[in-house]
Amino acid sequence: MSKVKLLSGEQIPLEMHKIRMVQKVNLLPVEERIESMKEAGFNTFLLKNRNVYLDMLTDSGVNAMSENQYAAMMQADDSYAGSETYYRLQEVLKDIFGLDQFLPAHQGRACENIIAETLVTPGSTAIMNYHFTTTKAHIKRRGGTVEEIVPDSSLEINSDVPFKGDIDIDKLNAMIARLGKDKICFVRIEAGTNLIGGQPVSMKNMREVSKICRKAGIPLVYDASLLSDNLYFIKTREAEFADVDLKEISREIAALMDVTYFSARKLGSARGGGILVSDEALFHKMRELVPLFEGFLTYGGMSVREMEALAVGLNETMDLEVISQTPIFVEALCNELLAKGIPVVTPPGGLGCHVDAMAFCSHVPQDQYPAGALAAAMYIASGVRGMERGTMSEERGDDGVDKLAEMELLRLAFPKRVFTYSQVKYVADRLDWLYKNRTLIGGLKFVEEPKVLRFFFGRLEPVGDWPEKLVVAFRKDFGDSL
Ligand SMILES: Cc1ncc(COP(=O)(O)O)c(C=O)c1O
Repeated sequence: MSKVKLLSGEQIPLEMHKIRMVQKVNLLPVEERIESMKEAGFNTFLLKNRNVYLDMLTDSGVNAMSENQYAAMMQADDSYAGSETYYRLQEVLKDIFGLDQFLPAHQGRACENIIAETLVTPGSTAIMNYHFTTTKAHIKRRGGTVEEIVPDSSLEINSDVPFKGDIDIDKLNAMIARLGKDKICFVRIEAGTNLIGGQPVSMKNMREVSKICRKAGIPLVYDASLLSDNLYFIKTREAEFADVDLKEISREIAALMDVTYFSARKLGSARGGGILVSDEALFHKMRELVPLFEGFLTYGGMSVREMEALAVGLNETMDLEVISQTPIFVEALCNELLAKGIPVVTPPGGLGCHVDAMAFCSHVPQDQYPAGALAAAMYIASGVRGMERGTMSEERGDDGVDKLAEMELLRLAFPKRVFTYSQVKYVADRLDWLYKNRTLIGGLKFVEEPKVLRFFFGRLEPVGDWPEKLVVAFRKDFGDSL
């Protein structure tokens, strides 16, 4: 992605690729959209994709692949053990991260399972900049707890802090002093901190955290799933790296860590995952779990075709023009929404545009899931599927009371190289309409609530008949338009 100036002076994002394979999408009439939403139990995860116009649920496993990735799939070596494909992928990983002790896994949470099985003991604490849903679930399942230590200012919706994903060094030191090294199973840094708005972590911060962990003898784990966005921000927001090669930056990051893992559904635009481990003893411990949970050591639950695509995709991640589309689109959408007075997380991060549902739907009580309600309303208004990242994505406490999230966000994710700029404009327009009609949006309540990771397949219903009122307002303003 590039930014170019038009004759009018307007600066627009310009796609640096052409599209040679397309998928037809449907934009249903609003009366059918409300029916689809009801059928999905007001949970955007449960919508059928055939009823979705723009799928902005996630970038996971849905990034566009390049012609070279597809071509590489043809050379996959389909053998159970010793596949040449594994060695090709290992070579690429070594080149990018400087490490060759590589364990394949079928996706990011499978890596988290292996890491938690190896490092988390009952009663221990994992300290991190911020949790991710599946990470926390695996740590809790092993009897551990999670402590989040971003600075308080990183949880403010609007700020000009360029690296809101940084760990608060004072909090880290205080927590190590309070808990003691033996009670801390690991410190985890998540690149492009997902749940607080795709916010990056600076190299300066990673260097400091690594020094503290090394001194204290605490393993440092890096979740590199959102590395590509984070690399873009290190390069564009951290002056020291303006002219440094992305590969060099990646190698420095990996050298600061003890364990680096990733979801290859995100990083490398394929489907799979992997763990890189620097310490030999730890590597051997984790390696034992791969055949048990994933598959043999040279495929780990991944299809060899995906592994070939991943090897190429990882190399493409080292090209700033390739990885910049998401952050540039996020910035463009955020700026357009801000100009219309619509509350979004700033500074714009990676992954997607994050709408502040607490401000957007300030009349909806937090225990009626304002971000979930906004996600449902956005689908009804536009056919665009976003994801709730707020209280619905948390789990109830043991007392049955909802744990209210620190932020209520509607995430509109940008899968890499999937959408066009006119689609970005459409999203901004429908959100603008929704904002002008925001008082129509009401709350949601669970009617079916799974105990673990309830946001994936829980079912809800609206409090009142607000979805119907939204449809009437849509028709009044848009006539017979879709
Ligand atoms: C930061 C982060 N870590 C881990 C995961 C889990 O990866 P996967 O979905 O491949 O299991 C995700 C997925 O969205 C993620 O965003």
